[in-house]
Amino acid sequence: MPKKLAAGNWKMNGSSASASEITALLPMMSDVTCQVLLCPPATLVTSMKSWAEGSDLLIGGQDCHANESGAHTGDISAPMLADAGATHVILGHSERRSDHGETDAMVKAKVIAAQAAGLVAVVCVGETEAERDAGRALDVVGAQIAGSLPDGVTGDNTVIAYEPVWAIGTGRTPTLEQIGEVHDFLRQTLTDQLGQEGTNLSLLYGGSVKPGNASDIFAVPNVDGALVGGASLKASDFSGIIKALDAS
Ligand code: PGA
Repeated sequence: MPKKLAAGNWKMNGSSASASEITALLPMMSDVTCQVLLCPPATLVTSMKSWAEGSDLLIGGQDCHANESGAHTGDISAPMLADAGATHVILGHSERRSDHGETDAMVKAKVIAAQAAGLVAVVCVGETEAERDAGRALDVVGAQIAGSLPDGVTGDNTVIAYEPVWAIGTGRTPTLEQIGEVHDFLRQTLTDQLGQEGTNLSLLYGGSVKPGNASDIFAVPNVDGALVGGASLKASDFSGIIKALDAS
């Protein structure tokens, strides 16, 4: 069975003043059964871990290098994230793919590094608007899955996030039918590739998830949670999404 997961991606936002948002989020943590994960910038992983101490709030990174250590100025490795208290790492986010030219092969190497460090890889896939308009959404997502996932993927070490690029930070979302079509396709693709284990991977939807649309999205079959950007920055918004997932 896939786990329900509400994941927040803070992107390049947050500072020591963000502690108040974590303090505001913590009281609800003991009331929910779904997993809750926040991925702050690397500068805040250690602090957020201590702010969340004593709660079930999980902390993750937003990227890692494929190597364990070495001469890679500005990069951080999967073992470093694990050492700082992270349990997860987002890999292959469309902003990494576009800002840093990350290819499926590079994402795959990072997933292998994450697995080796004992981190859960949250692997992002999703089509651009032009690709959807050309009727290629499933082809694009299928190719990203085929190219980004190494051998040894299980429901314990990998989560998939479907994030249509055109829905990220835009306030636009696909229809529930479109979300369902891609998530059904992802489940089928994963079970074709991994057999029964493919039914254990959590499939998150991401792209303009808000408290107001979360319940409808979580009611779509094969949607096991969300990867949330903007609405994860404020405890008041993120808590609404967590509650919607928990009730789904
Ligand atoms: P958004 O971002 O919720 O702000 O659209 C989602 C993401 O990029 O993970």
